[in-house]
Amino acid sequence: MITVGVIGWVTVLAVSSALERQAQRGVENEVSALVDEFNAGGRPDLEAALTGRFANPLIHTRYVLIGTDGAALLGDATLLPYGRDPADPWVAPAGGPRAAARTLGDGSRVVVVDDLVGVRDVEAVVTRAFLTALAMAGALGLGTGILLAGALLRRLDAVTRTAEAVVAGDMTQRIARTGSGDEFDRLAATLNRMLDRIDGLMVNLRQVSTDIAHDLRTPLSRLRQNLEATNRRAVSVEVYKAAVEQAVEETDRILDIFSALLRIAQIEASTLRKGFRPINLSELFHTLADAYAAPAGDGGRTLTALITADVWVQADQDLLAQLFVNLVENALLHTPQGSTISLQLDVSGSVVVAAVCDDGPGIPIAEREKVLRRFYRLERSRSGLGNGLGLSLAAAVAELHGGRLTLSDAEPGLQVSVTFAREATLRGIKGQRMPKPSVSR
Ligand SMILES: Nc1ncnc2c1ncn2[C@@H]1O[C@H](COP(=O)(O)OP(=O)(O)O)[C@@H](O)[C@H]1O
Ligand SMILES: [Mg+2]
Repeated sequence: MITVGVIGWVTVLAVSSALERQAQRGVENEVSALVDEFNAGGRPDLEAALTGRFANPLIHTRYVLIGTDGAALLGDATLLPYGRDPADPWVAPAGGPRAAARTLGDGSRVVVVDDLVGVRDVEAVVTRAFLTALAMAGALGLGTGILLAGALLRRLDAVTRTAEAVVAGDMTQRIARTGSGDEFDRLAATLNRMLDRIDGLMVNLRQVSTDIAHDLRTPLSRLRQNLEATNRRAVSVEVYKAAVEQAVEETDRILDIFSALLRIAQIEASTLRKGFRPINLSELFHTLADAYAAPAGDGGRTLTALITADVWVQADQDLLAQLFVNLVENALLHTPQGSTISLQLDVSGSVVVAAVCDDGPGIPIAEREKVLRRFYRLERSRSGLGNGLGLSLAAAVAELHGGRLTLSDAEPGLQVSVTFAREATLRGIKGQRMPKPSVSR
């Protein structure tokens, strides 16, 4: 509305000043024309011209012919003030009538005056047009504003209602989408995805708590049973001693589970990659292959390695080592004697693929997701060593490194591959430390 108002105001000013200037030129031209008539045919011609003009109703200009005595000879006597004093030419006030006067050869004066009636008419028309435009702009702006604000508030309301429902505990609520793909729809989609993520994390948390409670009960009740049995039956110091040793061992196992759980939680929670630096993954794989050749041989298994040289990744050295130690130990632990385990490090483009494969029993497709959960172990492995946390930790480490851990069929056996982004620089630190091989941490 302000814009329309300003444009209107400026337009009216410009139009009227142009028209006033034109009116001034008009009266001057008219006076010249009348002087020409006088010069050509004297007073009679001039009077004939004036009479002709008086007769024409379309002409808005007014005229007066003033005699040498200062009285009106012909025309509008009210115009006398405009032509009285030739030495003191009349100056038109801004916006007032425009006038022009000339003295003729016989001493009389001819005066032409334009009252600007036409200019005022045009001004009025233009002003009215702009006032109409102003009113329309106002009505349109107001209407659109009310409609838009209404739609906006309604949609914000939907977000608020959903948020309140979620706060009240209904995690299944999602913001309704319009499907229009506009900013609001995208915001709704993003908020919904956020809710999905929170939901997923909460489900995960509940699952983990239940699992922890469940899986720690077993060793704790075993510990308690043993202590109770000893207390009931033990007769000698030696038996007590043996029982205490066994209890300490059992407690250590429980503490191990706790520290592994804490470690996974820490890795999953950390998003900062502090401690990350370029690591020579090839070197790490060679160290791993050397360190596990003997334990593998002792257990009647063969360890082979196919390692692309000079592959660097941005990583945390200790976590990366732990990841592959877990995978190799799984391959040693969950395969029968005579199996072959192979370490493979390959590069395709900017992606590094590090894999640990074996030709053992593998993991059925239906179980491949589940073994990544905390404490989940295949039926056949439940009585053996381990606590079911190795793959969870490996997956968490892979994710922290922006990679993915995937289980696939090595036909036969299991292939666990981890992808990383390749680090282009060849900078790095020589002499990387390796944790000592130790089964099931
Ligand atoms: N290389 C493998 N071959 C067959 N099964 C495996 C292999 N690695 C892991 N698994 C199965 O996945 C389960 C989960 O592994 P993990 O999380 O490392 O727990 P843990 O080794 O302590 O049992 C194991 O209990 C085992 O049943
Ligand atoms: Mg394991």
